[in-house]
Amino acid sequence: MRKIGILTGGGDCPGLNAAIRAVVRSAIGTQGWQVLGFRNGWRGVMDGDVSELTIESVQGILHRGGTILGSSGANPYHEGGIERVRAAFRDLGLDGLIVIGGEGTLGAAAHMTGEGLPVLGIPKTIDNDISGTDYCIGFHTAVQIATDAIDRLHSTAESHHRLMLAEVMGRSAGWIALHTGLAGGADMILVPEHPFDLNEVCAHLRARHLRGHTFSIVVVAEGAAPAEGTFELPDYPKDERGFTRYGGIAHRLAPEIEGQTGYETRVTVLGHVQRGGSPVAQDRVLATRFGIGAVDLAARDGWGRMVAIHGGDIADVPLQVGAKVRPVPEELYRVAEVFFGY
Ligand code: F6P
Repeated sequence: MRKIGILTGGGDCPGLNAAIRAVVRSAIGTQGWQVLGFRNGWRGVMDGDVSELTIESVQGILHRGGTILGSSGANPYHEGGIERVRAAFRDLGLDGLIVIGGEGTLGAAAHMTGEGLPVLGIPKTIDNDISGTDYCIGFHTAVQIATDAIDRLHSTAESHHRLMLAEVMGRSAGWIALHTGLAGGADMILVPEHPFDLNEVCAHLRARHLRGHTFSIVVVAEGAAPAEGTFELPDYPKDERGFTRYGGIAHRLAPEIEGQTGYETRVTVLGHVQRGGSPVAQDRVLATRFGIGAVDLAARDGWGRMVAIHGGDIADVPLQVGAKVRPVPEELYRVAEVFFGY
């Protein structure tokens, strides 16, 4: 009987529990394997914080947000923990490890593959920017949460004839901002892939108001940046892992836009609300398919790979060290652009 481990690492997102449930159900129910759950991402592997998962232990979690395993940004390569990871494989008699994570967590897994450890990945991040897959677990829920917020901002913006800046997550790619802006009818969307010129943004907003509108909604990705030489953003702080901690760009832009346009402006930063709570149906289905796909991959000894979805079909691709972030396609931006300033 095979013995596999599972962990969830990095920022949490809705749908992780659905993936854990699917892995456990398939590994035990279909393959007859044993499954060990590591707590708090790579931290649990390094510290031996692990317990057996059973079909009963994953009952009733499909619709629940967060992760029953807990999560952390721990990375064995940042703290000399790789020998402890090797020891965990050896001592527990693990045949393989399914790693559910984003850039950092999967990056560590990719390194381990290079060192011969049997690991495979499931992509998750509300930012939806992992290369090699069309969608990641959590993205659809974040878009729904942010769209609901934009709908609510619309009615109050309209009553008060205000300009609303809604800041959404998206460090390096504008997936949430673009999808939310399209779904919520935003009048302007700022994304990291398209450095913005504040004068142009204000010109679009003025043009819209000259057409008779008395309010506007602007969606801003947290990682959006001004075109060089147009406007200075203060440096963002770094967290303990050295990752930039974004957040606050909308607060920085609001007084500038208000000053230039004369429209009363308010800011809403959605923050971690986008990562919390129940997954929408699409994320439950995607996570379930990824979980089953990961066990199938393990059964084929597809270590060193990551499950993915391509055009609606489950696929798998190599795990990559420092994989390039997947930007939003230009076509999607052009669709959104049609609505800027109207
Ligand atoms: O990677 C997902 C993400 O939600 C980013 O959009 C955001 O910048 C980051 O996580 C914040 O993570 P935390 O506050 O948990 O470190």
